[in-house]
Amino acid sequence: MKKQKEGTSAVIAAARELLKKNRRTLSGHTFTIPSQYEYRHQWLWDSCFHAIVLRHFDAKAAEKELISLMASQKKSGMVPHESKYTLLGTELPYTSRITQPPLIARAVLDVYSKSRNRKFLIDVFPRLQLYHKWLEDRREVNGVLKVVDSNESGEDNSVLWDDELTIPLHKTYLRWLTTYVPFFPQKAAIKSVKATAIYADALHCMAEMAMVLGMKQYSNHYKEKSEAVAAAMTAVFKQKDGLYYSRTNKDKPIPYKTNSLFAPMFAGVLSKAEAKKLVGEHLLNEKEFWTPFPIPTVAISEPKFSAKGYWRGPMWININWMLHRALLRYGFKAVAAELLEKTIAAVRKSGFREYYNPLTGEGLGAKQFGWSTLIMDMMLKN
Ligand code: GLC
Repeated sequence: MKKQKEGTSAVIAAARELLKKNRRTLSGHTFTIPSQYEYRHQWLWDSCFHAIVLRHFDAKAAEKELISLMASQKKSGMVPHESKYTLLGTELPYTSRITQPPLIARAVLDVYSKSRNRKFLIDVFPRLQLYHKWLEDRREVNGVLKVVDSNESGEDNSVLWDDELTIPLHKTYLRWLTTYVPFFPQKAAIKSVKATAIYADALHCMAEMAMVLGMKQYSNHYKEKSEAVAAAMTAVFKQKDGLYYSRTNKDKPIPYKTNSLFAPMFAGVLSKAEAKKLVGEHLLNEKEFWTPFPIPTVAISEPKFSAKGYWRGPMWININWMLHRALLRYGFKAVAAELLEKTIAAVRKSGFREYYNPLTGEGLGAKQFGWSTLIMDMMLKN
């Protein structure tokens, strides 16, 4: 027991150190880069994850991270997926034209739940309102969220996009143009289970924040909106087998078993019985998601599964973090604990890497990767 405690505090100490080393200040904004070796800018969902970890030991740094992120917000309300470029030390005046999974409200509420700093909420709430209005106007279709590029989904080369991208992944230069330069149209779109689940949760967070700020009407508005999105998720995505599949632009279900199958649990959309079935039949199934270092982003039973293929199979700690919260939400304490234990085992074996081979725990991609410190949040939540 003592040894286990010491091991846990070593992981926590290493996580704190990593986030400290990856912190940068640019044009007066302080934020955390995902990795010193790659990705030396500010990224939307990365910063949300960084803030969720930082709040445990430095709430001010967590607030600054999110304030810096919101400083990149466009007049329209859009928050870019990537901002704060540097080229040889100079900031370039552009940001990307796509967003990323809308986790900001979740991160803000989590930070507030530690700091209880109302001033922070008062400052960011209007910006969040604008962002969620932009999502409603520009991304909502039939009550669910569409995502206009695989990079916007955060899972850049996910199998979900194989038949959908109008500009394929290998056309890097063209893709760069559509992502960063105005007037190049983006035509791809999928209606995404994962983005919608995160959106429903975010709207629920908005309702809670409005309550804290004494804005009862707004609180009711966001509560109703969150419930409507949750209901739309079931109406649009649920298939005969009870599983939720994302849909193509032409409205066909994309039938691959990916980690998104569990996203409805993150938003609390499934009944307890449905969740039990999903966990029993798919999550704990060694032929699908319960690999030695779970969970693979794509079930190992899928012909497209690739153990080292970036978002086409490897285990990513941000996905495990979402799943861990979803499991706790539904009371699957033992499964959540086992998932955490196995995630820690991968970090002990390979360090804080960008992603991991789900069969061997081998570390892959960028080193000293920021959001992999989410295991700290998982540990402290458990
Ligand atoms: C890659 C990932 C994306 C992440 C970014 C920075 O593009 O696919 O999800 O936000 O790197 O870490």
